Amino acid sequence: MRNKLSHPLCLFLLISLSLFAKSDAGSLVVYWGQNAAEGHLTKTCKTGLFHIVNIAFLSTFGNGTQPQINLAGHCSPVSNGCKRLGIGIKNCQRRGIKVMLSIGGGTKTYSLSSPDDARQVADYIWDNFLGGKSKSRPFGDAILDGVDFDIESGELHYAALAYKLHDHYAGSSKKFYLTAAPQCPFQNNLLHGALTTGLFDHVWIKFYTNPQCEFTPKDPTGFKSAWNQWTTSINAAGKFFVGLPASHAAARTGFVSSHALINHLLPIVRSPKYGGVMLWDRFHDLQSGYSGKIRRSV
Ligand SMILES: *[C@@H]1O[C@H](CO)[C@@H](O)[C@H](O)[C@H]1NC(C)=O
Repeated sequence: MRNKLSHPLCLFLLISLSLFAKSDAGSLVVYWGQNAAEGHLTKTCKTGLFHIVNIAFLSTFGNGTQPQINLAGHCSPVSNGCKRLGIGIKNCQRRGIKVMLSIGGGTKTYSLSSPDDARQVADYIWDNFLGGKSKSRPFGDAILDGVDFDIESGELHYAALAYKLHDHYAGSSKKFYLTAAPQCPFQNNLLHGALTTGLFDHVWIKFYTNPQCEFTPKDPTGFKSAWNQWTTSINAAGKFFVGLPASHAAARTGFVSSHALINHLLPIVRSPKYGGVMLWDRFHDLQSGYSGKIRRSV
């Protein structure tokens, strides 16, 4: 007796079909870390919904401060309370999911005072979260896959930070990533200096809390022109992602229904530069089920 699917030709067809489907599809990226009710990191990765998870945030750094992560109610970094998150990070990576350290966020507890300050912060991040060594690694010996720039205040010296991180990356055999989450207005963007270095892999543009470039099915012109400007003006080694709120409650403005996303937004952005959809954040996604509704279509 022979199982039908074990026929070599069937297998070959199945494998090539699945490879084909994969190469064609976009990825889902999600932010995790700002609400304990979103559940453990391991569980988020186990859903199989996401290809990249950004841990949010390293929210204090630079200008003489002692850098510190803030993971809301998940754990307290004081007296090594977040070390066990290292297990979750490794569980995710074992599934092929990239886990990034997102720096910045909505607080005003970070700034870079000079290029030297930026380079010191880069050294700190490398030693404490990536391939370097330190006695005080907040996530223990887990090695994150790179750094995500979610910079919402202060714009100076982020290029210097990117250059120094890139120097560290270059000395390692493991591939580390630089990603960024700029707001959708292209003009006067806080991350402009960093992004014009050309050192970044993926760029997830936040199409929310900025009405002039958010997507609306009735008039997508603002969205379209912002997307075109980002994707033609910035040289990224990787892909561009559409950053969206995972529910109405996740951002003041900018929510796009799954129906509108699939039928109206995605046809606009599909191109070799398109990488998928980034969601803020896992907590709101868990409430709305948004990622589950869109994942087969991104
Ligand atoms: C750095 O900190 C000092 C006070 O300690 C403050 O006056 C200055 O504005 C800060 N610089 C930046 C770039 O945030």
